[in-house]
Amino acid sequence: MHILLMGPPGAGKGTQAAKLVQEYNVPHISTGDMFRAAVKAGTPLGKQAKECMDAGKLVPDSVTIGIVKERLAQDDCKKGFLLDGFPRTAEQATALDEILPEIGIQLTRVINIDVPKEDLIERAVGRRICRKCGATYHIAFNPTKEDGICDACQGELYQRADDCEETMRNRLDVYGAQTQPLIDYYQAKGLYTAIEGRQAIDKVFHDIVAALKGE
Ligand code: AP5
Ligand code: MG
Ligand code: ZN
Repeated sequence: MHILLMGPPGAGKGTQAAKLVQEYNVPHISTGDMFRAAVKAGTPLGKQAKECMDAGKLVPDSVTIGIVKERLAQDDCKKGFLLDGFPRTAEQATALDEILPEIGIQLTRVINIDVPKEDLIERAVGRRICRKCGATYHIAFNPTKEDGICDACQGELYQRADDCEETMRNRLDVYGAQTQPLIDYYQAKGLYTAIEGRQAIDKVFHDIVAALKGE
């Protein structure tokens, strides 16, 4: 199972990825998570990524393609992967088309979680993440039992720096200009399936699994 998980910022990629990697036992490769880990580690990559992320802009293609290429070359990707948030530009999509045959991998399907713009800001602004285990919640749509405390591990919840309304508007503009055009690209390859993202989290998951089974 080699899956691309696409969708605008806040659509639910990370939420669904957490469930899909359990179902299919494949690594979850999220470029956003990789950049956040680099920011936390204070590496030069992290410094560069932080500037872009805080502004709601994309990290340059050369940098992003480099880290994905390195990650996909690791052995655990042979049995499958779930790529979340890559590719996001035409250049990244072309690069992926070159990388995959080199490592003997063919994409199984491209899943796009469709959520209209007006819902996305509310999803991002209300998102809370566990500092310890990374679980994702929403103050209204997927709340924890106890305010500010993770259900799974009792860790403390935090808000992502780029989840304020202003930065989110930039992220949505960047998505519309640079990433949305990739829908046509994968549709033309016959790999594309759109999933209605304005449903309960479990129903979205059910629909993705059905699409992957070819139902
Ligand atoms: P990244 O971390 O990938 O952010 P994103 O694409 O903006 O997407 P999000 O992670 O914000 O949303 P999501 O779709 O994962 O939603 P989630 O499941 O959390 O990228 C961050 C930054 O890194 C970029 O801006 C860029 O700077 C850089 N970057 C990353 N990849 C790059 C690339 N390839 N090239 C260049 N730069 C790159 O859910 C959101 C909220 O909604 C949560 O609170 C959740 O609980 C809730 N929710 C989920 N599903 C539902 C549902 N069905 N109903 C109601 N609420 C729901
Ligand atoms: Mg995410
Ligand atoms: Zn936790």
